[in-house]
Order: sequence, then C-alpha cells, then structure tokens
Amino acid sequence: MRSRVSSLEGWFRDHARDLPWRRHRTPWRSLVSELMLQQTQVSRIALRFEDFMDRFPTPRVMVDAGEDEVLAAWEGLGYYRRARLLHAAARCIVETHGGEVPSTVGALESLPGVGKYTAGAVASIVFEVRAPIVDGNVVRVTSRVLGLDRRADDPTLLKEAWTFSEGLVQASASPSLCNEGLMELGATVCTPRRPTCAVCPLAETCAAARLETPDAIPRPKVRPVRQVVHMHLALIERSGRVLLEQRPAGGLWGGLWQPLGLESSESMTLEAFRQALPIELLRCEHVATRRRQLTHRTVFIEVHRAMTRRRSGRWFDRDEASRLGMARPIRDILDRYVWSSEAD
Ligand code: ADE
Repeated sequence: MRSRVSSLEGWFRDHARDLPWRRHRTPWRSLVSELMLQQTQVSRIALRFEDFMDRFPTPRVMVDAGEDEVLAAWEGLGYYRRARLLHAAARCIVETHGGEVPSTVGALESLPGVGKYTAGAVASIVFEVRAPIVDGNVVRVTSRVLGLDRRADDPTLLKEAWTFSEGLVQASASPSLCNEGLMELGATVCTPRRPTCAVCPLAETCAAARLETPDAIPRPKVRPVRQVVHMHLALIERSGRVLLEQRPAGGLWGGLWQPLGLESSESMTLEAFRQALPIELLRCEHVATRRRQLTHRTVFIEVHRAMTRRRSGRWFDRDEASRLGMARPIRDILDRYVWSSEAD
C-alpha cells in the first residue's frame, strides 16, 4: 500500500491542475469549493469561484448577507439546495464554532449539507487529518485497481471504496496529497471512458490496466427515467415591474423566484392554465416553449404574456429582480421577454 500511496502523492505533486481553491487554501475556501464541486463540473466552478469568495470572504459575511444573496450568487451552478445548505453551514460555523471552520471530521459532518465525503475532504486537505474520502471518482478508481467488476452504484463496491481509501490515507505521508491526488486521478487519468493507464501512477498495481478495455469496469449505473414537468409561467408587467413569486421550499428550484405560474405532469391548454391560476387575467397569450434537461427531470417551460388588473403581490424592477435567487433558465426568460424591451 505504501508504494501505491507514495507514487500517487508524487504524481499529484507534479500534475495537480492549477485550480483557484488550490492557489490559496483556507478552511473556508476549501469547504465552499467542496460543496460547490458536488455534482458540478470543475471547469464551471473554476470560473466562478473567486467572484463568489470575493462576495463571501468569511462565514460571517455570508450569514450577514442572507440566504437570498447566496442564492443569487449561486445562479447557474444548479442544485440550489446546496446554496441554502451552505448559508446554513455558515450560520452554524458562526454560532457554534466562533466563525472558524472546524477541523475534525465529526464537527464538520455536523454542519448542514456536509456529509462524510465533504467532511473527509476538508479535514484531510486543509488539516492533514487521516480521513478517507469516497466520491464517484474514488469508486471508479477502486473498482479498477482491485478489479471489481460491479455496477458503479453497487453498495458492496461503495463499501470496498471506503476501505480502499482508508488504507491509502492511513499509509500516506500527507493525507492532503493522498486524497486530493485520488480525486485528481479519477478526474483526469482514470476517467469514465478511455482512461490513460500509460501515465497512471497506480497502473503497476492495477487489475484493470491489464485488461484490453479498462473502462469496462465499473459497469454503468442504471439511470432512472427522467420525470417530465410542464411549467407554465405568466409574464405580467406593469410600469417596468414584473410580478414574481417564490417557489415552495422543497423540490425543483425550491425557494427560488419566478413569474406567477404552476406545474403539471401533462401539457395544458391556454384556457386551462388561465382557469387554474389564482388570479384573473385580462389577456394571456403563449409566446414560447423552452425545454431544459436537468439530471432528474425534463422541464418544458411554457412562457405566456399576460395582463391583470390586480395590484397586490410582489412586483420587482430589473435591478431588484437581479438580487433575487432565480434559476438560470427563468432569469434568461425574464431577460429575453421582459427586460429586453427596456432601454438599457
Ligand atoms: N472534486 C471534488 N473536490 C475536488 C478538489 N478539491 N479538486 C478537484 N476536484 C475536486
């Protein structure tokens, strides 16, 4: 195990990608980057990371800014629940840990949104704690090195991956180099398809590297069928302001803002939409359909322009709306169909 780890650590020292959270490491930057990197590509986060950290340089600044500002800054990164959890974690850090990110796996795991993987990543990468880490990359590396021909989501494979990672980090000279090296190997060398075994520091002791098609393992997960959602929105404007509402807290785009609307599992006629809305519309016309493919859902967004006599509700001008948490496709619709008709 020791020679495996030392070649992994040596490889990472020489080949680590230059990423913003690696240039300047603090516990807070590391926690934020790990939460952002869950389910979102490194390249997307790399582009946004420094701006985000400039806006929220400490947990205390984030708490004071409020959840809505965090959601607004998160726009375009998807899985918005993570932004809400990050804000809650910042609050817990301020209230329970005096504003400093804790250094033990146990204390990290007690923060909202921080699971065993993220706790292990932060504890090992910034505090050199000998904690294992397992994400999809580590599962893949484990199944290949040990030659475990199983499905990527097989629970026994997951268990093997934790044991594998534990063995590596216990034998490591630096838990930080070992763990981030393991992630990096999965991301850049031991890739889902066509891994580059010729440059892999673990190739000598890897079962899959001896196969003709190392990428045959692990076998792919069975993908659940995507749910279809029809989202019907009414763009209602008055004097440069648009009527918006906040989505319910759970589920798709939970807690984010959007024009007045409703959802159905089947498509809906214009008349049915008009009848189903809780306010009376004077006019309503369909202007566009947008289709968005999310990980678990296909969303058809039916965009309508409408008019109402009603004055109650929450009306926002462009500047105010820009500070609200909003999913990127919804923001795009407002930009295209509401604000584009205004002079800049
Ligand atoms: N994915 C998750 N954590 C990462 C990290 N620290 N560096 C690169 N990719 C990652």
